Amino acid sequence: METDRAADESATRTLRLAVLGSGRGSNLQAILDAIGAARLDAVVVLVISDQPAARMLDVARRAGLATHVAKGKKYSEAEVVERLTDCRADLVILAGFMRIIRTAMLDAWPERILNIHPSLLPKFPGLRAWQQALDAGESEAGCTVHVVDAGVDSGPILGQARVPILAGDDADKLHARIQEQEYQLYPRMIRDYGAKVLASGEV
Ligand code: GRF
Repeated sequence: METDRAADESATRTLRLAVLGSGRGSNLQAILDAIGAARLDAVVVLVISDQPAARMLDVARRAGLATHVAKGKKYSEAEVVERLTDCRADLVILAGFMRIIRTAMLDAWPERILNIHPSLLPKFPGLRAWQQALDAGESEAGCTVHVVDAGVDSGPILGQARVPILAGDDADKLHARIQEQEYQLYPRMIRDYGAKVLASGEV
């Protein structure tokens, strides 16, 4: 059947990723490293930042990737959706993207936007989650990859990595250890979830 054939063809092709971020781009680098090491069969087709000076854009340019700046004060989600559509992304990967994702994007990429958050969700959504964990006297922290929905750091959880909070930890030390886990977790979750999305044949 036509639809079966479309699903088969889709399942064997390389996953197309668009990565959105506002900051350093260390998760983008980890994704590129995973691709380079053949741990992730994907291609980053576009990197979008809402911050013209984001270091993530330098990471992208050094890797020869297409970039787009969704301009700060005049940020428009409609413009981002247009770019994402043009680049035919299968998955939209949020990596430190400091914008709320609104209906236009959620409707255009239903269940196809992923985010990484530096806490063991549902605990500590929102900003500086590692600091929240320290302030709450937790014995462990971690990171979570989830599908994005209309809430803040909510949506179905795909996977988590746990990090013990050690005596003498401060915010920077803890955040750095959480990020080390992010670099392992995010590429794996993208690979596994991406395989399901391609196998569904809906892309
Ligand atoms: C990550 O720590 C992630 O958990 C959070 O934003 C940070 C992005 O860092 N959502 P980077 O730009 O990938 O270095």
